Amino acid sequence: MTHYTLPKARNFEHQISGKNTHLITLENSRGMAVALSDYGARIVSLLVPDKHGNPTDVVLGFDSIKGYLAADEQYHGVTVGRFANRIANGRFTIDGETFYIEPNNGANALHGGANGFHSRIWDRRIVYKEKADFYYVAADGEEGFPGKLSVMVKYRLTDNNELIISYRAQTDKPTVINLTNHAYFNLNGEGNGDIHNHILQIQAANYLPVDEHQIPTGVPAPVENTPFDFRTPKLIGQDIMQPDDQLIKGNGGYDHNYILDTEALAKKRPVATVRSPVTGINLEVLTTEPGLQFYTGNFLTGKDKGKRGNPYEKHGAFCLETQHFPDSPNQLDFPTTLLLPGHVFESQTIYRFSVVK
Ligand code: GLA
Repeated sequence: MTHYTLPKARNFEHQISGKNTHLITLENSRGMAVALSDYGARIVSLLVPDKHGNPTDVVLGFDSIKGYLAADEQYHGVTVGRFANRIANGRFTIDGETFYIEPNNGANALHGGANGFHSRIWDRRIVYKEKADFYYVAADGEEGFPGKLSVMVKYRLTDNNELIISYRAQTDKPTVINLTNHAYFNLNGEGNGDIHNHILQIQAANYLPVDEHQIPTGVPAPVENTPFDFRTPKLIGQDIMQPDDQLIKGNGGYDHNYILDTEALAKKRPVATVRSPVTGINLEVLTTEPGLQFYTGNFLTGKDKGKRGNPYEKHGAFCLETQHFPDSPNQLDFPTTLLLPGHVFESQTIYRFSVVK
């Protein structure tokens, strides 16, 4: 039996850009524990009881801050911002003024630019056994985005084995915003091979096909009769290796935004459910966001070795990133990602764990 533990707090005590970093631990009464770092307001570990009651770490990550600094930038567990996902050519326009984010993903700006929120040291303000709040103020013009943006990310662990992530932001100039968490899950336990045996359901009849730069073409497509159909539970591995043009554009796997069915959203029902037949661990995702980026770790290479020394290989995890649609600032048919002064951006995502025997 694998024995999983939380990383040592002292391995996360470091200085980055003159700011101290820490490890923050949340616990509930049901044996679930979460480790967070203020470096990127990120999830480091998530211990969940499996079908035998053994705590299992279901997210990829490293056991020290140095591990994170040495690894390839894969956005492990981070809070992604100011704009999650891709902006074509790093360019967009607000009120006739064009803004430019230095491309860091071919021609695209990805995940808020090279020094997005994932690489910042966030302030911790309130920390209890079951909750932690992180704050960051992005300067006007930071990474090219307009407006001074004050952001808060709150993590709360409930006795119902839910990790609730709440986001709130305000700006002093019109800007664009798209926030998500980039946890890489493996419900067999981190570093335990690929996620092909996981059974996934996504409440979405349509998704956004992409072009060769992974930018949505702008025309939603039905999932029906495609490898993208997860409306009824299906093995992630069932179609992932198919010679499908969209899977190829995703670099050999899923890396696409699903347009979540409005009924599931309106009724506050899970928009996605994933289960490991090995551990029995079941994950439900609930959100207020209209989209869900399903990504199967297609850019993991096996070079980085995680918390227990196991390589993080391609398809070694999945991400379910709740968010607005990629490239929304340039795609005016998509729900808007514009945030104006005097308005408050709010969103919430719940990762709820249980065991299915
Ligand atoms: C997101 C993107 C992927 C990839 C990862 C980070 O999920 O959609 O294409 O860039 O982030 O590696």
